[in-house]
Order: sequence, then structure tokens, then C-alpha cells
Amino acid sequence: MKLQVIYFSPTGTTKRVLEGIVEGLKPESVNFSEILKSRSHKIIEKRSEAPDLVLIGMPTYISRIPPEASVLLKKLKGEGIPVVLVAVYGNNKFGDILLEMKDIAKEIGLIPIAAAAFIGQHSFSNEDMPIAHERPDIADIKKARSFGFAVRREFLSDDVNFANFDLKVPGDFPYREWKGLPANPPETDEKICIKCGKCRAVCPVDAICICDSLNTDPDLCIFCSACVNVCPVSARSLTDKMILDIRERLYTNCSDRKEPEFFFEEI
Ligand SMILES: Cc1cc2nc3c(=O)[nH]c(=O)nc-3n(C[C@H](O)[C@H](O)[C@H](O)COP(=O)(O)O)c2cc1C
Repeated sequence: MKLQVIYFSPTGTTKRVLEGIVEGLKPESVNFSEILKSRSHKIIEKRSEAPDLVLIGMPTYISRIPPEASVLLKKLKGEGIPVVLVAVYGNNKFGDILLEMKDIAKEIGLIPIAAAAFIGQHSFSNEDMPIAHERPDIADIKKARSFGFAVRREFLSDDVNFANFDLKVPGDFPYREWKGLPANPPETDEKICIKCGKCRAVCPVDAICICDSLNTDPDLCIFCSACVNVCPVSARSLTDKMILDIRERLYTNCSDRKEPEFFFEEI
């Protein structure tokens, strides 16, 4: 089985979940493609090189697919290949993201056969206010492997006909309106910053410029927190009051552990 993985994962939790699923799927070959970096708008170049299965993983941003990723997802061409859809969220809620992923998958010609929602450490989590701290953990990865294995066992045999598949996933249409976050990007403490450039390298939307000082374009920043996490001297931090309030609210209200959920086409 040839597997193509397409994902967005600025702080790495979505990718870790997908790696667990891939272990369970046990493909003969696998190709990971980060959707914003690869700018690859094709799943297949030639029919002979088509994958047998596509696995798409996205982090949940305000109950939706991050818009920068959904624009690129819509440009892919599916050509009747089965797809497994995975959303990762920060222990609050995943809202309409799986439905949005399913609708886009169908629109571009993929056939959704299974979906899952996993929990990842919230992008706004920090040491003082941990939210889903260090998830996915060992138990999550075990479930990711089992999910991958179940998909392989149930669907990946020659006698399964995907033609009439109609996977049911939670979510409402119209999806929750995307309003973005009217907040300021992470700030840099210039006294601490060593201008190593790691934040710029990791920024998925090229919002950071290291000039005389370190500037972040507020129109481009998506608040993913990759730059905050990667900084070796802790010079970057989220300081906007709106985000600090959200962090506090999530820390107070979303501390009960949620568990991964799975959705399969019934055959
Ligand atoms: C702008 C923004 C919006 C988010 N919205 C949600 C949300 O609606 N529900 C939720 O549970 N987590 C939300 N999160 C948290 C991420 O979904 C979560 O941290 C995820 O694990 C990040 O994936 P990554 O590590 O692959 O980047 C949000 C994070 C960001 C940056």
C-alpha cells in the first residue's frame, strides 16, 4: 500500500498523531507532505504513481481548518482515492472541522472512508497554564496506532467497493463563521533575543523578518505559536490580552481530559 500524508502542523502535535496512525496502517511506502511548505497542489502527478490511500491531518483553529491550509487543500486533485481525515484540537472542541475536511475531500474527488479527532497540547498552553499538556501522550499514540490498524483491516482489501461510501462526521453547515483573531502577534524581548533565526525558519506563513529588530507582520501571523515554542532562549511570547484571556479561560474550563474519537464508514 502506497500512502500519501498531507498535513499542517506548526507545533508538531498533528504530525505526531499522524505518525502513530501510519505505524498502524503499515504502508509499504509513505510520503509526508507539509501543505504550506511543499506548495504541492497535486496528490498525484501520474496515475501510475497514485497513492492507494491519502491521510490528511489538520489542527483545529476556531473549530475550522486554518484558512491558509484550506485554500491549498481545495487545490488538490483526488481522483477517486480513499482518504482518512484527522483533526487535532486543544482539548476544547473540534467543532465543524471534520465536516469541513470531509466536504473539501469530496469536492476534490477523494473518498472519505474514516475520520478521527485527537487531542494535542493547545498552542496557547504554557508552563503556568498548561492545556492538554504534552498531548498526544503515550495513550493517544497507542490509540492512533489502533485506529490506523483498524482502517487497514476494515477497508484496505481488494473486495471493498468505495463507490457508495458516505462517511458521517460531526459538524454543522454553515460552518462556524471564520472571524480570525483580532490580536497582536507574539512579541520578542530584544534584550534576550540572539537573532538565531529559528523563529523565522519555523514560521509557516513567513510572517517574521529579522531586520534591525525582529518584526512580525500582524497581517500574516496566524498565532500558531511555533515561534514561541522553538525559541532557544524564551525570548518570544504571546502577550496580547485577548490571547492571554483565552489561555486563562481554556486553562480554567478545559482541564478535563478528552479522549480521541473515531468515525468509520459502515460496511
Ligand atoms: C488560532 C488558533 C485557534 C485554535 N482553535 C482551537 C479550537 O477551536 N478548539 C481547540 O480545542 N483547540 C484550538 N486550538 C488549539 C490547536 O488546535 C491545538 O493546539 C493543536 O494541537 C495544534 O496543532 P499543531 O501542534 O499540529 O500545530 C487553536 C489554536 C490556534 C493557534
